[in-house]
Amino acid sequence: MDTTALFDLKGKVAVVTGGAMGIGLASCRMLAAFGASVVVADREPDVAHLAAEEIRNEGGAALAVACDVTKDDDLVHLVTRTLQEYGRIDILVNNVGGGGAGKEDPSKIELARFIRVFELNVFSMWRLCQLVAPHMNKGGYGSIINMSSMASVNTSPAISAYASSKAAINHMTRNLAFDYGPGIRVNAIGPGAVRTHALSTVLTPKIEKRMLAHTPLKRLGEPEDIAGAVLYFAAPISAWVSGQVLFVNGGGEQTLD
Ligand SMILES: NC(=O)c1ccc[n+]([C@@H]2O[C@H](COP(=O)([O-])OP(=O)(O)OC[C@H]3O[C@@H](n4cnc5c(N)ncnc54)[C@H](O)[C@@H]3O)[C@@H](O)[C@H]2O)c1
Repeated sequence: MDTTALFDLKGKVAVVTGGAMGIGLASCRMLAAFGASVVVADREPDVAHLAAEEIRNEGGAALAVACDVTKDDDLVHLVTRTLQEYGRIDILVNNVGGGGAGKEDPSKIELARFIRVFELNVFSMWRLCQLVAPHMNKGGYGSIINMSSMASVNTSPAISAYASSKAAINHMTRNLAFDYGPGIRVNAIGPGAVRTHALSTVLTPKIEKRMLAHTPLKRLGEPEDIAGAVLYFAAPISAWVSGQVLFVNGGGEQTLD
């Protein structure tokens, strides 16, 4: 058995949304380290360029593309630019997501805010899947990885837009696995609390202590912990895995309340 081929991404092209920072950046670096050419798609072009440069300095191949995933023209351009540069798309990490943070009290927010969370977290993912799928089929390899959250199964106050959008991602993933199979696998990852910029805006020592009390592995996640799961779903080792949601959470549950 040639085990080296199971994680080999040489010749494959990966698009990672929100790839400039946090979980997205760690995923880009991980995929590049295993041979993929990566497209760092982010709405912050300067940070995306720095990320791509960092990956190239590490010996990988990377291209930065400015892209706000809530803008259809940007998504279309992302696919066109990737094909222009690398000629194929094999892996899509739909990583961008936001909202939540215990700030979605229905007595304080407008419907428009709820809609925006779904536009950012769900509609953008669905649309990018639609745009890349023909190219994955044409190239003969396809793995789509959607970034969900433990919030998709946890229940907490003032987080109903984010939590329900992430739950939608789980079920959308399971259903799209039928629509895009057999040529393309569609899976999702549900991170627990991971030390990124997004988490730092809400984490306090008190909250962290409570989270760790409910976490068997007694630490919060690092972006690389999630990137490991991204690699698994992206690579041939998971060739018979589709429609799954993998929770990566230190074995526990970390909520803000
Ligand atoms: N960090 C956590 O604890 C945690 C837990 C569960 C789920 N998640 C999920 O993981 C994903 C990444 O989170 P993170 O913590 O790494 O975030 P982060 O804030 O550290 O990084 C997000 C990246 O996405 C980019 N971005 C934001 N909006 C964008 C848009 N509209 N278009 C393109 N790029 C955009 C930002 O510029 C940034 O580079 C999200 O889907 C989030 O919901 C994170």
